Amino acid sequence: MTEGLIVADEVKLFDRLKPQQPDALLALIGLCAADPRPTKIDVGVGVYRDAAGNTPILRSVKKAERILLDTQDTKSYLGSDGDARFTALIKQIVFGPKMAADPNIIGIQTPGGCGALRLGAELIGIAGGNPRIFLGQPTWPNHLPLLSSARLETVDYVYYEKATRAVRFDKLMDALEGARRGDLVLLHGCCHNPTGADLTLDQWDTLSRFVAERGLVPFIDLAYQGLGNGLEADSAGTRMMVERVDQALIAQSCDKNFGVYRDRVGALFVKAPSKAAADAAYGNLMSIARTNWSMPPDHGAAVVRIILDTPALADDWHAELVEMLARIRSLRARLAAADPSLAYIDEQNGMFSMLPLSPEAVLELRRDEGFYMAASGRFNVAGLSDQNVDRFAAAAAAKIAQTAELV
Ligand code: LMR
Repeated sequence: MTEGLIVADEVKLFDRLKPQQPDALLALIGLCAADPRPTKIDVGVGVYRDAAGNTPILRSVKKAERILLDTQDTKSYLGSDGDARFTALIKQIVFGPKMAADPNIIGIQTPGGCGALRLGAELIGIAGGNPRIFLGQPTWPNHLPLLSSARLETVDYVYYEKATRAVRFDKLMDALEGARRGDLVLLHGCCHNPTGADLTLDQWDTLSRFVAERGLVPFIDLAYQGLGNGLEADSAGTRMMVERVDQALIAQSCDKNFGVYRDRVGALFVKAPSKAAADAAYGNLMSIARTNWSMPPDHGAAVVRIILDTPALADDWHAELVEMLARIRSLRARLAAADPSLAYIDEQNGMFSMLPLSPEAVLELRRDEGFYMAASGRFNVAGLSDQNVDRFAAAAAAKIAQTAELV
């Protein structure tokens, strides 16, 4: 029957699609898994590994999952905002108790930080006015495709210089001189991805005054709170900024600090200039969520909610977070002590730092040593184990010495 319907030289719908390259970062998972060398090191995608090289499920998460299994009595729908209690608890962690009480800051649960960014990007698009988004380079490789696919115009500027391993705050401020009222600035709240090079509090101070004065809108990606210098220190810049402006978006993720990566747990918060505007933002977020994923996945957010609502589990989670943080800091110290060319790594924060290497040199390290890292030279500090950190440091330092002038 179908045969009769085919027109001779008809071009089929899917024949018009252009082939796509796999996501270069996520492809590292498969490439590393396929490498038979026992000495290979996966420092690609940002997941935490313990001293033995495993990514365990946190104790607090396991306990909360048991409670959830025993007590959950329905899997009926919640709604497009997901678990409202989860979002209220996360609001406290991100903003602190005083600002969390601000009715002009609203939030909804999202599928991970990526879902929060997407929701925010679409909200900006719907709000109209064609604002541009200032995007410091380098940045998380998914930022640009995500913002562009929401049809937002981006303006690039140099945030960090790989060769000197330094944040170019002067270039950030120069770029923002060219921003118009209502333009957005995408910022990493802490643990800059991919460089680990964060703004200092003094720089947040200067930047937030400037952003407030010029009527710009910060869009803050906060995906690693607690893994840089602790929960409070890692949100200090975000809090300072949000306090000073009347409009902001904050994309939050629990994937890393609760280790619930594949469960996709996050939230988007929006600060609006009035209660009416906050209500409108909330209503629009609900509609956007409905047309994308309808409702966010429940399991991970319910687990996080149980942890934060149960004092003993919250204490346990906090102890585990501090343990992860301490391990990352000790790996950073060990890398920095291994060679003067790696000394900068100890001053940086979170899961990532960037080796000052060309993409070719990164490929050579993959071929010769079995190190799987992003072509930019970004590597996951937290992916190193006690057994392989010294070998990684020695090979990285040797490659930097050989090729540094090529960056
Ligand atoms: C990363 O940057 O490695 C993580 O945020 C995982 C991802 O989705 O890219």
